[in-house]
Amino acid sequence: MESFWHGEINEYIQWHDTDGNIINASDGGIIFAEGKYHWYGQALRPFPDLPGADGGQKTDVGVVMYESEDLLNWKYEGVILATNNDPDSPLFGPMRFERPKIIYNDKTKQYVLWCHYVKYPGNHAWEDGTADAGVAVCDTVNGKYKWVHHLRPINNECVRDSTVYKDFDGSAYFIYDKHVCPGGDRCLYVVKLTDDYLSCTDTYVRIEAAVEREAPAIVYRDGFYYIVTSGLTGWATNQAKAFRTRHLLDQWEDIGDPCIDDETHTTFNTQSTYAFPIEGKHEEYIVMFERHNISNFVECSYVWLIPEFNDDRTISFRYSKEWKI
Ligand code: GAL
Repeated sequence: MESFWHGEINEYIQWHDTDGNIINASDGGIIFAEGKYHWYGQALRPFPDLPGADGGQKTDVGVVMYESEDLLNWKYEGVILATNNDPDSPLFGPMRFERPKIIYNDKTKQYVLWCHYVKYPGNHAWEDGTADAGVAVCDTVNGKYKWVHHLRPINNECVRDSTVYKDFDGSAYFIYDKHVCPGGDRCLYVVKLTDDYLSCTDTYVRIEAAVEREAPAIVYRDGFYYIVTSGLTGWATNQAKAFRTRHLLDQWEDIGDPCIDDETHTTFNTQSTYAFPIEGKHEEYIVMFERHNISNFVECSYVWLIPEFNDDRTISFRYSKEWKI
């Protein structure tokens, strides 16, 4: 690739790896480690024709990774967290490792992956293992991740969309859409992880302002944490909303839709995915969004935007059809 090319907001532009294959990293993230950027996500393309897959939301491959030095040329590194063929395994496919996110633990020297875990056959539901947090670890960023467990952080209640965030002091947080099963209250929660990042502590906050929000992506700038979210309309796009706080475990304030000139009120026809810092810059980020193509998931596309931080301590995004760093 020569630039980040998004096209018009109703276009689905394909990005390719250095072998010419479609980059297959659905709703994942990017971590800078061992001298390179590593982009990972759930392998949903090309979509296996799975029974009941409803547009290919499940994987029978796992989570895959790509590496790059310039964020434009991505070399496929392979499957880092694989599904398997053992019906007794929690990783028996097809299943979902939705919205996988990786952080590095400086104490244990391990990379820790959290995701929204949905066991075989990968249908969102209420029972144990169908709406959980999943955890896997690895000693190297791009090695084979080992499954640790799946869990429900609070009151055995369901886990939907999620992310993880590592703070400056080395503490880390699981942020997720907690759903009281079946069919009850939904709200974003921030839960402090244990020191090894493998489990949740019982320290958490309910983001009172973030009722019925999902797809959380977090950035920090000059004293404030900002979280960008979507509403709950499944794969269909909707209006983004951002929240801010000075402390992750305090209350967060609703600061409205961060998208400027988004006439369709659809987050520029995307859903938020993740935010990662640009290496060598101070508190500058790329925020990753994804344009899900519901009628043909092979053509989901990536939209990466630079957040603008305003004097009134709000965050905004402007759409651009194409840009370069
Ligand atoms: C979306 C959510 C995705 C996925 C999808 C349906 O609302 O953000 O992560 O769960 O629904 O499978």
